[in-house]
Amino acid sequence: MTTASQFWNRVAERYAASTISNVEAYEHTLTRTRAHLGPGDRVLEIGCGTASTAIRLAPSVATYIATDYAAEMVRIGREKLARGGPPNLQMLRAGPGDGALPDGPFDAVLAFSLLHLLPDLPAALAEMRGLLRPGGLLISKTPCLSGPWHALRPVLGVMRLAGKAPPSVRFLSPARLERAMTAAGFVLVEAADHNTRPVRRFVVAQRP
Ligand SMILES: C[S@@+](CC[C@H](N)C(=O)[O-])C[C@H]1O[C@@H](n2cnc3c(N)ncnc32)[C@H](O)[C@@H]1O
Repeated sequence: MTTASQFWNRVAERYAASTISNVEAYEHTLTRTRAHLGPGDRVLEIGCGTASTAIRLAPSVATYIATDYAAEMVRIGREKLARGGPPNLQMLRAGPGDGALPDGPFDAVLAFSLLHLLPDLPAALAEMRGLLRPGGLLISKTPCLSGPWHALRPVLGVMRLAGKAPPSVRFLSPARLERAMTAAGFVLVEAADHNTRPVRRFVVAQRP
């Protein structure tokens, strides 16, 4: 885990300082996410970065645990919370497969711009499903680098060798992403493109 998170530790300060490229699409994602959350909900976010989204969503639920496997992301996020975050929001260093994610059951598990980065997507989806109560929701948004975006593969390979790209990036189509979710035992509740070029697929999937 330490090696895999090195890239994200290195870019964490820059990531925290970056601006949202499409504010309208981001706000739409927040709105659609809130539509599936309730004031009594216990929520877990995985791959939360520096907690920007967690800070926006936590006031809509009862408790919110935001997690990321990169220590620097967590450090910066905790600094933000110390300056005045929602009182029901806490941050932990944890990720799928490391045994450190908090115990469920959760009403919702959130994963924004994360699923395409996971080295073992089927195992991670199974773990997320196991963290949800029956009827609980996996709410995700995922860049889908399918079709012409495959041309980026060699470029990403070179960038990775130079330490300028994440250790694993999956080139998913929306259909493949959704098939992975149904194969993990989820039922799709909502799916839509929230960005184009590349598509960022918003998917709400329910544990039956
Ligand atoms: C593209 S950023 C997205 C951050 C945030 N969710 C957002 O939408 O702004 C990806 C985040 O996922 C984290 N991440 C990548 N692989 C991970 C893994 N295997 N387990 C946990 N977190 C991971 C990175 O540290 C980084 O903070």
